[in-house]
Amino acid sequence: MTDDSRDEALRSALRTHTDYGAERLEEADVAADPFTQFTAWLAEAAERGVYEPNAMVLGTIDPDGAPSIRTVLLRGVDERGFEFYTDYTSRKGRALLANPAVSLVFPWYTLHRQVIAFGEAHSVEREASDAYFAARPRGAQIAAWSSDQSQPIASREALEQKVRDTEQRFEGEEVVPRPERWGGFRVVPHRVEFWQGRTSRLHDRLVFRAAVGGGWELERIQP
Ligand SMILES: Cc1cc2nc3c(=O)[nH]c(=O)nc-3n(C[C@H](O)[C@H](O)[C@H](O)COP(=O)(O)O)c2cc1C
Repeated sequence: MTDDSRDEALRSALRTHTDYGAERLEEADVAADPFTQFTAWLAEAAERGVYEPNAMVLGTIDPDGAPSIRTVLLRGVDERGFEFYTDYTSRKGRALLANPAVSLVFPWYTLHRQVIAFGEAHSVEREASDAYFAARPRGAQIAAWSSDQSQPIASREALEQKVRDTEQRFEGEEVVPRPERWGGFRVVPHRVEFWQGRTSRLHDRLVFRAAVGGGWELERIQP
């Protein structure tokens, strides 16, 4: 890549103005609850070729009050909430165990859509974590034992040595058990926004808010 073409690529990356298409999101089109609506959009994202449509950016609050974000993969969704798996002793794990407030976004850019949820995350039942861990490839199970997620390590070699030590520890054992510090969180939302990009930046934004006494209220907010 020449300097000129690199500069042109940078200019284009920073200035591109995409006018989102003709798709719309009307009150009459959405389901009665956010989980049904989300599931329909997730299936559509998968069908329409979104890469890792279950990837979501998760925001938490560190003990000092600072926000912190990262991507995780959604592994389950139903009327109880959005489920993902991680290391409970990681930065996000510690943050959530101290303060369950959470927000997340599914950024489906190629569809001109995003879904944003706000709520609380709580650890899932131990049996659910056991079952999900048991279904993972052995390499991922070994990695979970070998990585104290978010902690510093001296080198890549030191990490690979930890993997070799773990492999040796479980050599000959058919089942790798779940490390106690690894498991799931379920995000229980009180607010879920469905965003559909539209032409001239007049996007559709429909928000489900948990109603007092149960059920959901739908509200349109300005783009
Ligand atoms: C596409 C993608 C999917 C990821 N999925 C997960 C996941 O499901 N669980 C997880 O713990 N980390 C996942 N990660 C890594 C996290 O983004 C992050 O680096 C890690 O969890 C440590 O975050 P923390 O230090 O903020 O706790 C994923 C990263 C990417 C880019």
